[in-house]
Amino acid sequence: MDDHRFETREVHSHERRDPYGALMPPIYANSTYEYASPTETKAGFRYSRDAMPTRTALEESFANFEGGEHASAFASGMGAIDAVFTATLSAGDHVVAANNLYAETHDLLTDVYSEYGVELTQVPITDVDAIADAMREETALVHFESPTNPMLNVGDVAGAAEVAHEYDAKLSIDNTFASPYLQRPLELGADLAVESLTKYQCGHSDAIAGAVATNDADLAEELEYVQYRRGAIPSPFDCFLVLRGMKTLSTRMERHCANARAVVDALVGNEHVTEVYYPGLESHENHDVAAEQMDDFGAMVAFELDGDVDTVTEFAAGLELITLAESLGGVESLVEVPATMTHQDLSSEALANAGIPETLVRLSVGTEHPDDLVADVEHAIAAAFDER
Ligand SMILES: Cc1ncc(COP(=O)(O)O)c(C=O)c1O
Repeated sequence: MDDHRFETREVHSHERRDPYGALMPPIYANSTYEYASPTETKAGFRYSRDAMPTRTALEESFANFEGGEHASAFASGMGAIDAVFTATLSAGDHVVAANNLYAETHDLLTDVYSEYGVELTQVPITDVDAIADAMREETALVHFESPTNPMLNVGDVAGAAEVAHEYDAKLSIDNTFASPYLQRPLELGADLAVESLTKYQCGHSDAIAGAVATNDADLAEELEYVQYRRGAIPSPFDCFLVLRGMKTLSTRMERHCANARAVVDALVGNEHVTEVYYPGLESHENHDVAAEQMDDFGAMVAFELDGDVDTVTEFAAGLELITLAESLGGVESLVEVPATMTHQDLSSEALANAGIPETLVRLSVGTEHPDDLVADVEHAIAAAFDER
């Protein structure tokens, strides 16, 4: 199966495994499993926090997608990111991370891991030299999203891996915005690929989960240790929902990307739009790196209007199809204002440090018909400016 292409593997990787011939890995809603003797399980499973068949199927699929030997699934993307930090960091260690991070990842490092004695330096990860300059003897981890949430910065993963490894540090990449269909950080030299499965992998906005993949057996063991001891595991039902979504990841991503291009073209051509952040644009400052390490540019788009916070509020109110909501990666298009929604917990200083304007609008472009999406965006922009 491993020799097949992504599109084939995503559909077929779990067939002919179930003892009853079920094509889809079933929901094993069990907490505990029978032993054959006090020293031997009946079929490899003993207690669901340790392992259970639906989660194992999910972990195998995720590892397969990311090109990793091992994967561990968690109750959310944040659970997975926390596991990466716990598995790689100890008191006295130093982390180099992006200045633009998902707000909760930022807070986890600045509020929680700082209390554990872990020091943080944030740098623009689009600049490998800035990463190199921030490295210290005690740096144990370099961590960034690529593309970043919400500014869509793209860091050079291979370049960052080289720098991290010079210092014996690990490189962890949050691959949530790209998904492994478009970008595989482990192939680029990262040690860990972590992802919120809640987003593109699930694809239908109906489950929360996360996972980490690696080719490093020691890190895999650490992650399993964290998973079993801390216990932040996804439920069998959520594993099932994510697995079902994963079977159509490539098909959805192709549509997502094509739709994003249509929306980006409309935004670029609109007189009221002052800035469009999308790595697929040749004018994007990281376009070359993105073109090198991604198979396509994804469907997350950010932009600014020629107005203030009220203009943005009016724009959001004028949308009829695209829903004002947090999250991303589902089939339905969503719009949000990071400064007051997903990134609301960041201080104004942290927002400024991340380069997030208070009027930034972020779109998760879904799989609807592109003409309908473009019409909705154009209509809402016109409404925001006509009504003022
Ligand atoms: C880039 C990124 N990483 C991680 C997360 C956290 O994922 P979850 O909500 O599944 O915990 C998010 C959530 O939006 C995200 O955007």
